Amino acid sequence: MSAFPRTPNTRPLPNVGLPTDPDYEQRLAEFEARIEAGEKIEPGDWMPYEYWRQLVRMISQHAHSEVVGMLPEGAWITRAPSLRRKLILLAKVQDEAGHGQYLYHAVETLGVDRGTLIHQLLEGKAKYSSVFNYPTLTWADVAMIGWLVDGAAIKNQTMLAHCSYGPYSRAMVRICAEETFHYKQGKEAITLYAQGTPRQRRWAQDALDRWWWPALMMFGPHDKDSPNTPALMRWKIKTKSNDTLRQEFVNEIIPELMAVGLEIPDPDLRYDEETGNWLIGPIDWAEFWQVIRGNGLMNQARMAARRQAHEEGQWVREAVEAYARRHQARQAPEKIAA
Ligand SMILES: [Fe+2]
Ligand SMILES: [Fe+2]
Repeated sequence: MSAFPRTPNTRPLPNVGLPTDPDYEQRLAEFEARIEAGEKIEPGDWMPYEYWRQLVRMISQHAHSEVVGMLPEGAWITRAPSLRRKLILLAKVQDEAGHGQYLYHAVETLGVDRGTLIHQLLEGKAKYSSVFNYPTLTWADVAMIGWLVDGAAIKNQTMLAHCSYGPYSRAMVRICAEETFHYKQGKEAITLYAQGTPRQRRWAQDALDRWWWPALMMFGPHDKDSPNTPALMRWKIKTKSNDTLRQEFVNEIIPELMAVGLEIPDPDLRYDEETGNWLIGPIDWAEFWQVIRGNGLMNQARMAARRQAHEEGQWVREAVEAYARRHQARQAPEKIAA
């Protein structure tokens, strides 16, 4: 276990074990036996440093993705084509804010406060899903995001609902229920467009052409290029690999997209009779890494919007802190009296 390269000399929390601890091997064996038996690891339970590090990395990236993910669709709330669509979109974007909240709470159970995480995001030091760095050019993009992006998110999050860390898995159960609504509204809207006027059909196809590959990239690099996968699977933070999830998603969604008359923008796509899998052409990983490194079409605009929201929310944070101080001061004499 001492092979993990990033183990520090100091422990972030008293319950986080370091390989240099005298009882590390024994406690690790007990920890792994609990995971093997299907038990959840809860805040305060002993855990190896690498498990703690992977959880903080993964849940914080997930939280940031939910919050930044509000922006591409949020831009269309004022331009929704009907009151019904506006209400649906408002509810969806608000849900995503809630998902960010649950997930920041989940990271806080690991001793890292959200202020630190948000600071990392605003400084450009934290990652979030690359898919949100693409622009939403038409209303059909909003619908396609619901079907494809929320659909891909559900695949990933249904797996995470079974993960070994209790707070993360429980957050996922609620989040998945809401994502299902996001997915359904997107699918309904695209289905209507795909059967609508020639212009509406063009919008739907154009949205699919632009969102198809970014949605497939959401599952992350191929397993052979994913350095975190072995540790994540060993400790059941993830129970399925990136390529497995991507293949499941592709197999489910391709027949559905074809059924409404849309064309998958992949000249190499073919159905493999033997395995029952839809085999996709090569993913442009150079584009993926470009976007991750901050060079996507919308990276700068997304971060500028988050920074502006943070600055404009300063008075709210100050008011909350002032209220908390006053509340504490009022409580203090009572406590002393008690
Ligand atoms: Fe979400
Ligand atoms: Fe969603």
